Amino acid sequence: MSSTDTATRTGKNGCPFNFLIWVCLAPITAAIILYRIDPFDPAPLPVHEFTSKPISAPKKNPRMLHGSERLGSGILLGPEDLAYDPKSQVLYTGCGDGWIKRVKVTESVDDTVIEDVANTGGRPLGVALGLNNDIVVAGLFLVSEEGEVKLLTDEAEGLKFKLTDGVDVGEDGMIYFTDATYKHNLSVHHFDMLEGRPHGRVLSYNPSTKETKVLLQDLFFANGLALSPDQTFFVFCETILRRCSKYNLRGHKKGSVEKFVENLPGFPDNIRYDGEGQFWIAMFTETTTFWDLAWRYPFIRKTLAIAIKYIPIPITEKNSGVMAVDMDGNPVAHYFDPKMSAITTGVKIGNYLYCGSIYHPYITRLDLSRFQAQESAQVNLLGASRF
Ligand SMILES: *[C@@H]1O[C@H](CO)[C@@H](O)[C@H](O)[C@H]1NC(C)=O
Repeated sequence: MSSTDTATRTGKNGCPFNFLIWVCLAPITAAIILYRIDPFDPAPLPVHEFTSKPISAPKKNPRMLHGSERLGSGILLGPEDLAYDPKSQVLYTGCGDGWIKRVKVTESVDDTVIEDVANTGGRPLGVALGLNNDIVVAGLFLVSEEGEVKLLTDEAEGLKFKLTDGVDVGEDGMIYFTDATYKHNLSVHHFDMLEGRPHGRVLSYNPSTKETKVLLQDLFFANGLALSPDQTFFVFCETILRRCSKYNLRGHKKGSVEKFVENLPGFPDNIRYDGEGQFWIAMFTETTTFWDLAWRYPFIRKTLAIAIKYIPIPITEKNSGVMAVDMDGNPVAHYFDPKMSAITTGVKIGNYLYCGSIYHPYITRLDLSRFQAQESAQVNLLGASRF
């Protein structure tokens, strides 16, 4: 019996055939109507800038969870960024419950001591050491050693910050920070990514004049920021474009922006300098063909934006981790794991790599002297590389 016969017969019977059409068409019609009436209006992205093959580091550890340890499990709720004070051997971090916490770094994770410093009353993201034993928190806040919270600034050029994200402090006290977007707050930040418009800014705050300056605008989700050791430039990440750029602070190139690292294999979040010639770029999740298509076609992003209003966002992040790059932005080593997600910062202290995450309730630590990244050839033999 051919399929035409089946269709005709069922059709003659009436009910099942019509019912089938109805079952199929109703949701499609509903979806089309929803799509038409939803005001979400994503923009085309400059895809030519970031759809080349993702870069690959010469050395990799693609199973970084193997041998890693957890610090402050259940106490450090979403330690998004980490700032290390070598004098007191303490890590500062901002958590999802609003607390800035002080984490005493010890040889054994069992000896870790965690203390509350202050509650900012919001969701602290980027943290950096200030000049007077204080902590600068993206926002922009100054938290004193005693836990006193002071607002430094919350707007520039008449535009309030919505998602202050990365921060670093210069040796001269100047504070450099990012506002990922002036349009969406953290709880709805995914709409900013899906919309694909450059709402991000890089700013500076001068503590002596109390002046807030816009250094750069029209950035695609301006995220982490880290100063170079010689203070001549800083590097900042644009999450959507999967790149980090260099902003010159001195000399004849002052104020200009140059390429630093592009086509990262994942979506960059915070960036931290290790004091040893390398910047460590945390990547929230890997890039995939799906994301390439979504950035290319706004209708995919609109469909996604509508879908996540009704259906909870499934966790799809994987191969999250940290890539070390040299002073010129050349990749050096990449630590990641298929089972790792939502890593938002990576800080190297001595032989250890400490990773914070905006979602997970702990800091992940890896002993790099025991589990260091290997040449790609060895990794490929293990069948673990996907690049
Ligand atoms: C974030 O923005 C959304 C949409 O504008 C709003 O509903 C929500 O209350 C805001 N959340 C916070 C914490 O301000």
